[in-house]
Amino acid sequence: MGILYVDGTLTIGGVPVNEIAETFGTPLYIYDESSMRESFLNLRGAFTYNRFEVLYAAKANSNIHILKVFKDLGAGLDAVSPYEVLVGRMASFPPESILFTGNSVSDDDMRIVANTGALINVESMSQLRRYAALFGNGKISLRLNLGYGGGYHSYLVTGGKTKFGLSLWEVNEALKFARDRGIEVIGLHTHMGSGITDWKLYQNALLELLKIAERIEEIEFVDVGGGFAISYRGSDPSLDILSLGKSLSGVMEKYRDSTGKELKLLVEPGRYLVASSGILIARVTDIKKVESSDESTYFVGVDTGMGHLIRPALYGAYHEIVPVKLAKDAAEIEAHIVGNYCESGDVLAHGRKIQVVKEGDLIALLDAGAYGYSMSSNYNLRPRPAEVIVRDNGKVELIRKRETLEDLVRGMFI
Ligand code: LLP
Repeated sequence: MGILYVDGTLTIGGVPVNEIAETFGTPLYIYDESSMRESFLNLRGAFTYNRFEVLYAAKANSNIHILKVFKDLGAGLDAVSPYEVLVGRMASFPPESILFTGNSVSDDDMRIVANTGALINVESMSQLRRYAALFGNGKISLRLNLGYGGGYHSYLVTGGKTKFGLSLWEVNEALKFARDRGIEVIGLHTHMGSGITDWKLYQNALLELLKIAERIEEIEFVDVGGGFAISYRGSDPSLDILSLGKSLSGVMEKYRDSTGKELKLLVEPGRYLVASSGILIARVTDIKKVESSDESTYFVGVDTGMGHLIRPALYGAYHEIVPVKLAKDAAEIEAHIVGNYCESGDVLAHGRKIQVVKEGDLIALLDAGAYGYSMSSNYNLRPRPAEVIVRDNGKVELIRKRETLEDLVRGMFI
């Protein structure tokens, strides 16, 4: 069903978006459960290897009700903070299905995670030494930085000269250290970045991990991370999931046939599973025309902005913006769509062609299901929006309340 126009009105999961906005107000995040399910099943279906598992990357959207959707589909969880692990446990992910991949991890972080029984993915020699000092022996996996990566923006590349992972020159030292301490390395992991369009990068990474895996007797899984690119703009490339599944399954099947070892293959996408299933609804507040002698510029102001969806301001990311009601034969203008935060950089779209809108009209920012709410803030003391999900059966459910003044001042000792 997805997100589409029916008789000129935008619908999500079969429900008109304006009706949902009337009920719950704006700004509002709305998610479509059936689209999430479809993305998950698409991904699963692309892999023939029978020990393939998907870990949902909680950071993309950590609402517990979204976590539960993926738990019920049979996913495990990729968590990057102790609280993501704990909320994952509240969503009923069994500890053995949770992989904690932190960075600049403190002893307290490791204690909290170890207490839950989730597996710690160690990413530096200093973390490994502290792990040994804290727990003696145990089971871990190792996050490796293979020296290359990719992504939509330089901020989103994690392979190469970045803070992430153990470098290849440190692998021998890490394996020896672990062996000497009786620490079992049951997994090898890498995550190369976010927004990778070339499946061959994953194939290369998998071959490298498997080469190292041959030297580890107790190894149980290899994990090539997430980062699968989706297309935010019609012409932009996305990752070819079918080719990814085919090539990685082929590599694993060959490895199994030549070594007799049937390791688990893990991937940990966030964006691919949730981005396109979510929209951010806003209402037009202002229309302004700034004229100078040689140009005129339109600004369309809306009741949301960088505190609710920071991707455009932070990465120059493109999000499609569409009217909730299509007007017949409406003229188009080119406008900057701007938010309600006190920053010049609070621009949701630069020079975008849109149907002429007027104050009070509803617009939708598309592909906002990943890294939208999860990166939101209370900047300018603006409350975060509510979140709503349209269930498979068309039921509309509030899954997080809009914040209030009380929420914002809680903890300020007043
Ligand atoms: N695994 C690890 C260890 C990660 O660090 C990440 C993302 C993922 C999996 C999932 O990546 P995905 O499949 O969602 O691309 N805020 C940025 C994205 C940052 C991603 C950080 N790590 C954005 O809005 O595009």
